Amino acid sequence: MKPLRFQTLLQVSLAIALGLGFAACSNEKEPESGAEQVPGGVNVPREKLDELAALSETKGAYAQVCAACHGPDGAGNEELKAPSIAGLPAWYIKEQFAKFREGKRGAHQDDAPGQQMRAIALSLTEAQIEEAAEAVSKLPIVLTELPPEEADLERGRYLFANECMECHRYNGKGEVVFHSAQLISLNRSYLRRQLKNFHAEKRGAAEDDIYGNKMVDVTSRLSDEDIEILVDYIGALAHGDDPRPAREL
Ligand code: HEC
Ligand code: HEC
Repeated sequence: MKPLRFQTLLQVSLAIALGLGFAACSNEKEPESGAEQVPGGVNVPREKLDELAALSETKGAYAQVCAACHGPDGAGNEELKAPSIAGLPAWYIKEQFAKFREGKRGAHQDDAPGQQMRAIALSLTEAQIEEAAEAVSKLPIVLTELPPEEADLERGRYLFANECMECHRYNGKGEVVFHSAQLISLNRSYLRRQLKNFHAEKRGAAEDDIYGNKMVDVTSRLSDEDIEILVDYIGALAHGDDPRPAREL
């Protein structure tokens, strides 16, 4: 199994090199020579994209590309800020890839993790994205971590029932009709970051991102404390809490 392990290491270093190099060059105005200028003003080194695309053609895109950051089981990697994606619905993954590619997500200069994922999304073909999305959706779901014992679940339940449930459903599984995401499989640090990203308009603020706009609107009403309480509550929801009785009619 020696060659395989070597290959995995190679992928990880490639991914990290891409991520760091990318984040580092994202503040520069002039495109690097050989870098591709994409809408949203982000430069992606061309040879890195070709390298990644070539890797993912030889084997399944998930094993070849995604696993290096999101883990072989899709449970994510806190250090790389790569979220748990196992069991996300394929429609949602494809929609987010389209947003990354169009620069509606991951194009903000203060969103380094988003920029990294955007570079990956730009390196793949539509067929590879389709295949990776199907593979991710079939990985067994990893539930959001349980909240700490001191969490104010009562307040969280009230907030979720009245501010979130309408679109993300009572079970936090999301709803394709509303284009709303599944929440109960996302890790805490990622949930917190995304809610703050929407609040700060680092995600979802593009004029033609009608679904992202909804989250910008919802989170504009949330304080940091509300966000913390909601992150806690989504953990409880993932493990069976029922928010429905807290809904005000
Ligand atoms: C270089 C590391 C890296 C690689 C490789 C990578 N990702 Fe990511 N991915 C990230 C990071 C970091 C984020 C978090 C972006 C953010 O904070 O907005 C992310 C976010 C995502 C999201 C958004 C999750 C959500 O709930 O909205 C999806 C979906 C995703 N990745 C799928 C994939 C797939 C599929 C692949 C393989 C084709 C892949 N990623 C490869 C680092 C990576
Ligand atoms: C009006 C409908 C609506 C409401 C209300 C709503 N959401 Fe959303 N939410 C969405 C949609 C649509 C998306 C997908 C946005 C995108 O495509 O970027 C989303 C995305 C998210 C994400 C990002 C998920 C991911 O995988 O990256 C989080 C986290 C989230 N919502 C949490 C909440 C919370 C917490 C509340 C309540 C305070 C809430 N939402 C209320 C529609 C809604």
